[in-house]
Amino acid sequence: MSSIAMNGFCWKDELLLGNTRMDEEHRTFALLIRGLLDAPDDALAVALDELVVHATQHFEEEDAWMRKLSFPAQACHMQEHAAVLMSAAGVRRRLRNGEFRVVRQFAAELAAWFPPHLQHLDSALAHWIFKHAWGGKPLVFRRNTPSTEAFVNAHVLL
Ligand SMILES: [Fe+2]
Ligand SMILES: [Fe+2]
Repeated sequence: MSSIAMNGFCWKDELLLGNTRMDEEHRTFALLIRGLLDAPDDALAVALDELVVHATQHFEEEDAWMRKLSFPAQACHMQEHAAVLMSAAGVRRRLRNGEFRVVRQFAAELAAWFPPHLQHLDSALAHWIFKHAWGGKPLVFRRNTPSTEAFVNAHVLL
């Protein structure tokens, strides 16, 4: 991922899926990725650990929805979740040896992985959940702005 794209990584309304629970968790996920991208060397371990705690809980929740609602594409979706956590565990081990560069590379790869995962896999799951509950697709209202970074920052300060 280019440093320009990495520097521009933030939560955007285009990532909203219309499932309040998922959207809130994804906002937090994006903030934690941003935090890992920006962390100085001595804060990388804390930033990585916070991200892994959130990702583990979020992935477990999505995996549970997929199993409960017999989501058709659950195998590949769950495999992606597991692959992220496995990579994070490996990166955490290497960080103990002082390999900061590996964490920065992981953060950049995570920032590149996050939007397409939401827009393809999580989006399909959000539709499936909504269809089971209401028999249709969720309505999503997005602001017509290129970025909502200011909103995210304001959200953090609340
Ligand atoms: Fe997700
Ligand atoms: Fe997911």
